[in-house]
Amino acid sequence: MKIEELRIQDISPEVRNGCQELNLSDSVLRQCMEKLRAQIDLGLNPSTREQASVKCYNTYVQDLPTGKEKGQFLALDLGGTNFRVLLITLNGRHFDMQSKIYVVPKEIMLGAGEVLFDHIASCLESFALQHRVAKKNLPLGFTFSFPLNQVGLKSGILTRWTKGFNCANTVGEDVVQMLAKALAKRDSIKIDVVAILNDTTGTLMSCAWKNHNCKVGVILGTGSNACYVEKIKNVIGFDGDTSKPHVIINTEWGAFGDHGELDFIRTPYDKEIDKHSVNPGKQLHEKMISGMYLGELARLLIIKFTKDKVLFGGQINPKLQERWSFLTEYISDIESDPRGVFKQCRNVLGKLNILDPTDQDCSNIRYICESVSRRAAYLASAGVATLINKMDIPSVTVGVDGSLYRFHPHFHNLMHEKIPELCNSSIENLCINLMLSEDGSGRGAALIAASGSENNPE
Ligand code: BGC
Repeated sequence: MKIEELRIQDISPEVRNGCQELNLSDSVLRQCMEKLRAQIDLGLNPSTREQASVKCYNTYVQDLPTGKEKGQFLALDLGGTNFRVLLITLNGRHFDMQSKIYVVPKEIMLGAGEVLFDHIASCLESFALQHRVAKKNLPLGFTFSFPLNQVGLKSGILTRWTKGFNCANTVGEDVVQMLAKALAKRDSIKIDVVAILNDTTGTLMSCAWKNHNCKVGVILGTGSNACYVEKIKNVIGFDGDTSKPHVIINTEWGAFGDHGELDFIRTPYDKEIDKHSVNPGKQLHEKMISGMYLGELARLLIIKFTKDKVLFGGQINPKLQERWSFLTEYISDIESDPRGVFKQCRNVLGKLNILDPTDQDCSNIRYICESVSRRAAYLASAGVATLINKMDIPSVTVGVDGSLYRFHPHFHNLMHEKIPELCNSSIENLCINLMLSEDGSGRGAALIAASGSENNPE
């Protein structure tokens, strides 16, 4: 008997049936795509954006990198529990980067906005002093990975927090001004904030720097989002440079589903996650896809099957009962075992004080993890295919970044296989390439800062 057959037999029928609702057929995925496309069209029009769940913000980035960008730049990267300050030197194809990671403590993530920006300014100050660039008035690109209604390349109004952040007095404010105000309190530094961008935009730019065919940027990390290159004529009321043909649109697809569009596939586990999140009712697509939530989804399924006495002889382990105790990285670990081998699986379960799982327990746990991550990869694929169909071009490179995509052993392959299946058959000679971004948030910020700063020769 082949290992594959053995494995299938080892999965309890209850688990296989119970995970069925996570199994999305192509026809269901196509329904999601239709709904997503409708929301994108609403978002691209200012008169209907209010009612769109997918806001499609203009980024004011209208040029892909030329490869001739030159100079020294600072970059800030805020989008998760860590934030980074970077010093980047660009010179043609040469790229040099120094960076430092700073922690954003939980109390700052949930505290007053002013405190967050003071923290950022103080880290930037110590970094700039250490690298002797504090007074050079270097151009800075700010990668700020939360939904921003941009009103220019260096101006963006925060529309909501996501990914566990919730700072008071910031929604509705221009975050560049908040940063400038915090920087102005410090005499020892002089810095010119020339651009604010989303991490998806940074990813697209950094991949396009190497591969000019890159037209989509996707993040599959703590959160999830995508941007793409849109024709100006499709952006109603575009107020940027109309002499240029394109602009990058930040879709903010994480909020897809917030108006009920995904209710037809949301499971009780999705609803439970949402209920216990800091932003209930919001970012519902993101909560089905991204690294912040997948581990918790798997945990809820494991608890359900344990209660049903299908796993661990019905014994519920107290550690596993703690919310968020099953990390998304555990899914990647478990799925990295070769088929029929449970070394990583036992290792992970050991961390949760489950010391003597049977092979059948392990098979079931792996199947649960695979069901959760496959659904996420397919939903992300449906999103990418929607954008490719909209752009209607046959050959596209999709820049991707984020810990989930980077570390999950099968995410890339699942997407690589599924995206072409969902693209319009009318697009001839379809060629889609998924390209792992190399530090999009840093390099992308520098590339955009280069285009936004006066010392750029282009
Ligand atoms: C944010 C996006 C961001 C994504 C990935 C989402 O929660 O709304 O702006 O691009 O996370 O970091």
